[in-house]
Amino acid sequence: MGQYIYKNQIQSFSFQNVKGFASPITILYGGKTGNSAFIANEIYTEFKKYELDPTVISMDQYDFSNLEDEKYLFIVVSTRGEGDPPGQAKAFYKHLFGKNAPKLPNLNYSVCALGDSTYQFFCQTGKDIDRQLEKLGASRYVSLVTCDLAYKSKSEFWASSLLNKFQNRLNGDVVNLKFGTHSLGPTYTVNVKDKYRLTSEESLSEISHLVLHTDHPDFTYKAGDSVSIKPKNPYSLVVKIMIKQGYSHETIVKYKGKKKSIEELLVTKLELTCLSESVLCDYLAHTNNIDLRILCENKNELFKYLQFADVYDMLSDYPSKIEAQDLCQILNKIKRREYSISSSVSETPNEVHLTVKQFNYSAFGRNRIGACSSYINKGLQEGSSLKVQLIPNEEFRLPEDDLPIIMIGAGTGIAPFLSFLKERKAKEANGDNWLIFGEKNRTCDFLYRKELEGFKEEGLLDHLDLAFSRDQEEKYYVQNVLKEKAKTICTWLNRGAHLYICGSMAMGKSVNKVLVQILQNHNKIDKEEVLDYLEKLKEDFRLHEDLY
Ligand SMILES: Cc1cc2nc3c(=O)[nH]c(=O)nc-3n(C[C@H](O)[C@H](O)[C@H](O)COP(=O)(O)OP(=O)(O)OC[C@H]3O[C@@H](n4cnc5c(N)ncnc54)[C@H](O)[C@@H]3O)c2cc1C
Ligand SMILES: NC(=O)c1ccc[n+]([C@@H]2O[C@H](COP(=O)([O-])OP(=O)(O)OC[C@H]3O[C@@H](n4cnc5c(N)ncnc54)[C@H](OP(=O)(O)O)[C@@H]3O)[C@@H](O)[C@H]2O)c1
Ligand SMILES: Cc1cc2nc3c(=O)[nH]c(=O)nc-3n(C[C@H](O)[C@H](O)[C@H](O)COP(=O)(O)O)c2cc1C
Repeated sequence: MGQYIYKNQIQSFSFQNVKGFASPITILYGGKTGNSAFIANEIYTEFKKYELDPTVISMDQYDFSNLEDEKYLFIVVSTRGEGDPPGQAKAFYKHLFGKNAPKLPNLNYSVCALGDSTYQFFCQTGKDIDRQLEKLGASRYVSLVTCDLAYKSKSEFWASSLLNKFQNRLNGDVVNLKFGTHSLGPTYTVNVKDKYRLTSEESLSEISHLVLHTDHPDFTYKAGDSVSIKPKNPYSLVVKIMIKQGYSHETIVKYKGKKKSIEELLVTKLELTCLSESVLCDYLAHTNNIDLRILCENKNELFKYLQFADVYDMLSDYPSKIEAQDLCQILNKIKRREYSISSSVSETPNEVHLTVKQFNYSAFGRNRIGACSSYINKGLQEGSSLKVQLIPNEEFRLPEDDLPIIMIGAGTGIAPFLSFLKERKAKEANGDNWLIFGEKNRTCDFLYRKELEGFKEEGLLDHLDLAFSRDQEEKYYVQNVLKEKAKTICTWLNRGAHLYICGSMAMGKSVNKVLVQILQNHNKIDKEEVLDYLEKLKEDFRLHEDLY
C-alpha cells in the first residue's frame, strides 16, 4: 500500500482521454516521506488547469502489464538507503531491470529524481530508471531532472517543461507552474510527558527516552512506523554565524513575503548543520570564490566536504560579506529528521515514545552537535510542545501473530523492536520472539535493560542475545552472535521466521555479509543461491531492514 494516498491517486489503473490531445498520461511516484507523492499530486492539479487529465498512481499500486501500452509516463522517484530505490519503488525498479522487462518503443517518458547531495549516490534511483527506460527503447520526452533537498523549483521547472512540450507551448505561451505548499502526512501536536536518559553518566553516548502525549482523537500508528521532527538549530552555531557575518538581533530580512529577524530564521527555518551541493553552488554564484569553484568542480572532494561541513564552515572556508537577505535565499529549508517509534498504541494509546541519541562529533578541528538530537535532548523539557509527522513504514511490519520473529539491532536500532515486543505483548500474540541487541558497554549502555530482562523472564522473549562491543579486548558485535547461533537462525528461518535488521548502515552491511556466510555454510549452497534465497525472503516480506 502506498504511504501517501492523495485524493487524486487512482487505485485502479485507467486510461483517460485528454481533451484536445487524445493521449493518456500516467504519473508514477515512488518515495517514502511524501515528497514524490506531493510533486505528483501537484502536477495532477496543475495539469488539470490546462485540460490535461493524468492518472496519478504510486509505483507499488501500478500494474506492470500496462507498461507496454503507456504512451506518456512521467516518473517522480526518490532514493533511500545508499543509492537504493525506496520501498514504494522497489518492485517497479526490479521489474524494469528484470529479465522480462518489456521493450517500450512507443513510450515517451521523463524522470524527476529526488535526492540529497550529501549522499554519495545522489538521485541514483531516478538516474537508473531514466537510463533503463532508454535502454528498453523508450524516448526521453524531457531530460532527467535531479533535485536536491530544496526540490521545489527544479520539480516545478520539470513539470512546466512537460506541460509546455505537451501543449506545444514552446513558441510564445510558455507556462511556469508553481506548486502549493507541501502538506505533510498526518501531523500531530504533542507534549513532552516524560524524558529520561537511558545510558548512564559514564557512557560515551547520551541516549534518551522521550514520552510524547497527544489528546488528538485520530492519533494512531503501527509498530514499525517512525515520526519526523523539525528541529531548532543549536543556538551556539547561530551565534557563531551571526558574529562571523556581522549580523545583529536587529538584522531584518524579507522571507516568503514577510519581515523576519535573521536570528529567528537561522534558529527555526534554515538548515545549518548539513550543507548540500546546491547551497554551495548558489553561494559560489554569489561569491565567485576561486577556491570554492575548484571544490565544486571536483566531485570527490566536494562529496567529502559535504559529509562534515556546516554553514559556518562554508562561511569561514570561503569567506564573503554576504548580506543576510542573500544568505537566507541561498540556504535550504531546515530538514525534518526521522526517529523510529519505540512504543505501541495498544499499550499506550495517546503516546508516542522515541529513543534518541545525542549526536556529538568533531570535524575540521571544531566540536559540533546535531541539530535535532540536541533540540530533543537539550531543548525540549517536560511540558514542551512540538509537532510530529507520522511516517508509515510498510516495509517494517510485524507478521501474523503466530509467526516467529528474529530482531537484530544495535544502538538506537532497538527502538522499533521495543515497539514490536510491546505490541505482541498487548495483543497476546503467540509467535516466538528473538532479540539480538548490540551496544558498547553492558554497565552503561544496556538500553531498556529492565524492560528487556522482564520480557525474557515472563517468556515474551524466547531468546535475548546481547553483544557488548567494548566489554572485552576484541570487538564483539551482533553478527558474532549470528555466527555462534547459525544453526538456530537457520532453523527459525525454515520455520517461517521473519528477520528484521535495524540500526546503522555499517551494522546492516556487516550483518548481511555474515547472514550470507552462515546460510551458505549451513545449507551447503553457493553464494548465488544464498543471494536468491535472501531476495526471495525480501519478496515474501520476511526480510526487513531499516538502516540509517
Ligand atoms: C528511518 C530512520 C530512523 C531513525 N531512527 C532514529 C532513532 O530511533 N533514534 C535516533 O537517535 N536516530 C534515528 N535516526 C537518525 C536521525 O534521523 C538523525 O539523523 C540523527 O538524530 C542526527 O540528526 P541531528 O539533526 O541531530 O544531526 P545533524 O544536525 O543532522 O548532523 C548530522 C550531520 O553531522 C555530520 N556527522 C554525523 N556524524 C559525524 C561524525 N561522526 N563525524 C563527522 N561528522 C558527522 C554529517 O554531516 C551529518 O549530516 C533515524 C534515521 C532514519 C532515516
Ligand atoms: N556522530 C555520532 O555521534 C555518531 C557516532 C556513531 C554513529 N553515529 C550514527 O548514529 C546512528 C546510530 O548510532 P547508535 O549509537 O544508535 O549506534 P552505533 O553507533 O551504530 O553503535 C551501537 C553499537 O553498534 C556497534 N557497531 C559499530 N559498527 C558496527 C558494525 N559494523 N557491525 C555491528 N555493530 C557495529 C557499536 O560498536 P563500537 O562503537 O564499539 O564499534 C556499538 O556497540 C547511525 O546512523 C550511526 O551511523 C553517529
Ligand atoms: C535514510 C535515508 C537515505 C537516503 N539515501 C539517499 C541516497 O542514497 N541518495 C540520495 O540522493 N538521497 C537520499 N536520501 C534523500 C531522499 O531521497 C530525499 O530526502 C527525498 O526528497 C525524499 O523524497 P520522498 O519523500 O519522496 O521519499 C535519503 C534519505 C534518507 C532519510
